[in-house]
Amino acid sequence: MNQPIITTILSSFEEATDIKTITFRYPGKITPGQFYMIWIPGVDEVPMSVSSIKQDVKGITFRNIGDATQALYRLRKGDQIGVRGPYGNGFTLTGKRPLFVGGGTGIGMLAPLVEQARRKKLKSTVILGVKTKDELFFEDRFQQIGATVLVSTDDGSVGYQGFASELAKDIIKKERIDAVYTCGPEQMMRSLLSFCKTILFQASLERYMKCAIGICGQCCIGRGLRVCVDGPIFDGTTLKKVQDFGVYRRDAAGRKIPF
Ligand SMILES: Cc1cc2nc3c(=O)[nH]c(=O)nc-3n(C[C@H](O)[C@H](O)[C@H](O)COP(=O)(O)OP(=O)(O)OC[C@H]3O[C@@H](n4cnc5c(N)ncnc54)[C@H](O)[C@@H]3O)c2cc1C
Ligand code: FES
Repeated sequence: MNQPIITTILSSFEEATDIKTITFRYPGKITPGQFYMIWIPGVDEVPMSVSSIKQDVKGITFRNIGDATQALYRLRKGDQIGVRGPYGNGFTLTGKRPLFVGGGTGIGMLAPLVEQARRKKLKSTVILGVKTKDELFFEDRFQQIGATVLVSTDDGSVGYQGFASELAKDIIKKERIDAVYTCGPEQMMRSLLSFCKTILFQASLERYMKCAIGICGQCCIGRGLRVCVDGPIFDGTTLKKVQDFGVYRRDAAGRKIPF
């Protein structure tokens, strides 16, 4: 499990500006919220959450932001990557009236969880928060799953003008939401947590990772929680005690980078 398996890219699709989904053959189970380590030969190995789960074929959805993701973005159908995992804990879908809040690239990994909610026949609402219209993706996919989809943009180019967390605050009250699942910018997730006093809350965190198996300590948050094995999904009770949540992350050298 901790050695990458070389596999072939089966499809590569541009979802929006600088956002792509690639699929590859990789048998085995994975729970929504878990992630793979994706090795781009000769470049780097980076963590990526699963965004599509179909028997032997899995998918990831990512933003072209740096060396590894730029190289991954350039790969096409038929090219090879290394995959190891799955790693991490995944979401636990409890509650009867869930709200899913995705911000930016964090939207992608919520899709398999919303599919799981549909299989459980839960009435789901999804908020997709992006900076501007051109960055919006998966709106159709969530509608096809049967969820109620609401969009927020920072610039008001489509949907609600403002932050996804502000829109969520209204929906939580109006729709009697009893569980919030989120992935996106940490400040957004921190703000969401502040509205979820009695509501179940689970958030997916990102930290710079090296081993992904709990050995190197690179991804630690709070008082020694390792995002790769104790997370990446953390509940609200835990996150309230993590002083760096929504405040800073660390780079490859361990330096603090404020959000
Ligand atoms: C558990 C987990 C799951 C992830 N799932 C996804 C996913 O599904 N889709 C996706 O697009 N990305 C995901 N990421 C983030 C992804 O791994 C990074 O974007 C990637 O490592 C960047 O590598 P790079 O070499 O392209 O960029 P780099 O050259 O390393 O960095 C480019 C810029 O992005 C910043 N950056 C790098 N990593 C992060 C990060 N983790 N958080 C915030 N800023 C960062 C850097 O500081 C720098 O400014 C996930 C991360 C984790 C820990
Ligand atoms: S990445 Fe090494 S402990 Fe998490």
